[in-house]
Amino acid sequence: MAEIDKQEVVAVLNRILESELAGVVRYTHYSFLVFGFGRIPIQSWLRAQADESLVHAQQAGEWITTLGAYPSLTIGPLLDSHTFDIGSILRESLQAENVALQLYRDLLALVADRSVALEEFARQMIHVEELHAGEVDKMLRRPGEVSTTGERQAAQT
Ligand SMILES: [Fe+2]
Repeated sequence: MAEIDKQEVVAVLNRILESELAGVVRYTHYSFLVFGFGRIPIQSWLRAQADESLVHAQQAGEWITTLGAYPSLTIGPLLDSHTFDIGSILRESLQAENVALQLYRDLLALVADRSVALEEFARQMIHVEELHAGEVDKMLRRPGEVSTTGERQAAQT
């Protein structure tokens, strides 16, 4: 089995850590701004996403120190469109989640067939993040609408 390029792997893990930490802040921030009939379920869903992002950040951070490197103390970009609209909040979240998903795919490409444990971690996270993105996509559909957000956007262009 070939060795992993530790420097490259740590660089991606640090970007994952930063982006998951940004998720903690973003989901917590938006959970304060949900008003109206849907507040209770949507607020608790956003809080649960913040908790999940924190667990993901901690997992990435632990991997960084396992590899003998220093975890980043920076936080990823926070897109705040100062919106109270649930649709915009979800679209913004989906965009950020897709960035994180791509980072996990980058990680997989770096560790595939080189480290069983890191490959397992990357695959698990891709699985979780894809299910999550799918869930957000379904929340963005109008009842009765089956096509995904991506398909609708493609149809409009
Ligand atoms: Fe995550």
